[in-house]
Amino acid sequence: MKFVKDLKRTEYSGNLTAQHIGNKVVLMGWVNTRRDHGSLVFIDLRDREGLVQVVLDPNKAETSTAKDFRSEYVVAIEGTVRARPEGMKNTKLKTGAVEVEALRCEILNTAVTIPFQLDDESVNETLRLKYRYLDLRSPRLQNNLMMRHKVARLVREFLSDNGFLEVETPILFKSTPEGARDYLVPSRVNPGNFYALPQSPQILKQLLMVSGYDRYFQIARCFRDEDLRADRQPEFSQIDMEMSFIDVEDILDLNEKMLRLIWKEVKDLDVPKLRRMSYFEAMNRFGCDKPDLRFALEICDLSENINGSGGSGFKVFDDALSRGGIVRGLNIPGGASFSRGQFDKLTDIAKKNGAKGLVWMKQDADGSINSPASKFITPEKLKALFVKLGCTANDCALVVADDYDPACSALSALRLHIGRELKLIDHSKYEFLWVVDFPLLEYSPEAKRWVSRHHPFTSPTDEFFDDMIANNEKTYPKMLAKAYDLVCNGYEMGGGSIRIYRNEIQQAIFKLLGMTEEETKSKFGFFLDALKYGTPPHGGIAWGMDRLVMLLTQTDAIREVIAFPKTAKATCLMSDAPSPVSRDQLVEVGVRLSVQAEKALEDVKDMI
Ligand code: AMO
Ligand code: AMP
Repeated sequence: MKFVKDLKRTEYSGNLTAQHIGNKVVLMGWVNTRRDHGSLVFIDLRDREGLVQVVLDPNKAETSTAKDFRSEYVVAIEGTVRARPEGMKNTKLKTGAVEVEALRCEILNTAVTIPFQLDDESVNETLRLKYRYLDLRSPRLQNNLMMRHKVARLVREFLSDNGFLEVETPILFKSTPEGARDYLVPSRVNPGNFYALPQSPQILKQLLMVSGYDRYFQIARCFRDEDLRADRQPEFSQIDMEMSFIDVEDILDLNEKMLRLIWKEVKDLDVPKLRRMSYFEAMNRFGCDKPDLRFALEICDLSENINGSGGSGFKVFDDALSRGGIVRGLNIPGGASFSRGQFDKLTDIAKKNGAKGLVWMKQDADGSINSPASKFITPEKLKALFVKLGCTANDCALVVADDYDPACSALSALRLHIGRELKLIDHSKYEFLWVVDFPLLEYSPEAKRWVSRHHPFTSPTDEFFDDMIANNEKTYPKMLAKAYDLVCNGYEMGGGSIRIYRNEIQQAIFKLLGMTEEETKSKFGFFLDALKYGTPPHGGIAWGMDRLVMLLTQTDAIREVIAFPKTAKATCLMSDAPSPVSRDQLVEVGVRLSVQAEKALEDVKDMI
């Protein structure tokens, strides 16, 4: 086995084209495949840029080690680029017009047989995550991470060109609330004390505005201990920015420019001016605040129709309306062919998403309406609802009656399910929008108090400043936030707001959120103090970097765009993190395990 001594790589294998014909090159990489024809050995040599075919003669002394080549061996090849013979060209391969005739080769390292073929998409993800470093050799993941790099570079250049300074903020910090649980780190030198990993650099970037940095950005790592989904990781990256002396329009304008640049450079697509939709419009029309606008299928309100006809006669509908809820539905084109089984599945989806049930309707051959609600609603009234939804003989109607939030969330889930099932979504499209005019607060029945919809640093619109300071509770439900979300294809790609920059309003918010004075002081005293020392008006936004790259690479799983991701249970299958630590280490950081934690560890040991 040789080491790289006198050999210096001259090219990446994957970059060789007809332009290189006649050139002498030195390549280094992995044996992707090997075909031994006895007198000649053909290999596909792979590096991060792609593959090239290399022809070696094992009977020559300089290339005799070719007979020992195996898959994933690391080799060096010195050779000449030549045109492939006519009829042997591979148009599917970037390098398919050429091959390299080896003059000399070296094995730099051997490899044991790998546990799965890199290009085998059917291999289960558990195995691929265990050997993540091998999966990362696949062109799929290499392309994703290269695109991620390209985006990071574009963002850094764009923001730097626009006067932003990149500033790093600490990872060992104090709780920065964004609505998730904190990851805690015990302090050895301050026993009994803990750092919290930042859920975002929110407070820190605001402090940089207090310090006069004017425009800040960072590709920041954030940590949130929350239930994971396909588009969420416990640690993820944000393109985080903050600006002083600006208002909503400045931020939206700058971010639209950045969005356009990214899509042009990465996808060669021109993004038109983004549409805007208020939170309530998005909820009313699509049932959620991050609507997927790649397909229509809008929600239709039936309340007026029902109230106007003196009630429906169906308790579920009439009760929902009388307690301030809604009755709304969807017209499913072609839904007349749905079976009972399909309607049961749709009812399950509605229930899983918070509604108490689902009424479906379709038209029988005689024009009458077939529906589980026909026992309760007169044929005329039922027909009127069917028509109001815009349904005809081929369609079916899905109707939900409930309080506003559960009804919207059920209808949104049904809309997305139908969109996917009926293939209404054009996957080649990108549909962006700004969602604006969010409510500032929402009432949490579990916590029995008001909570911030965004985070507690978001400013209400100016007209509510006085009500806020006066703690005028009557106005809380009406309060709007100077907040905005950047939405693409049903994903929240980014979100931000104009901030509270006056100490007394910030204090009022903490009070409204149910925090005692002591709590406010211990958690945010330093921040409230800072607001007293000349804080400029400011605001910002953070894009989910991982979600952005997911959208650009058109993948559905966030794990596909992160080098070393965690599973849905927040574990790393490759390193087995998180893992138990020694008793000594625990003693050192002043932590004792609970009885439950001890038992959980014992149970795991027993299983092994
Ligand atoms: P927010 O909490 O909305 O705002 O987060 C901003 C963006 O970060 C992405 N994101 C995530 N991506 C992957 N995994 C997660 N667990 C995850 N959570 C959030 C989303 C989201 O739009 N400090 C504020 C921003 C601000 O006000 O400037 C914040 O963090 O794409
Ligand atoms: P029930 O009287 O509860 O058997 O319900 C009769 C029909 O109304 C069933 O098809 C239920 O799925 C449906 N239903 C029940 N609750 C709701 C609701 N909140 N919204 C829409 N349909 C409902």
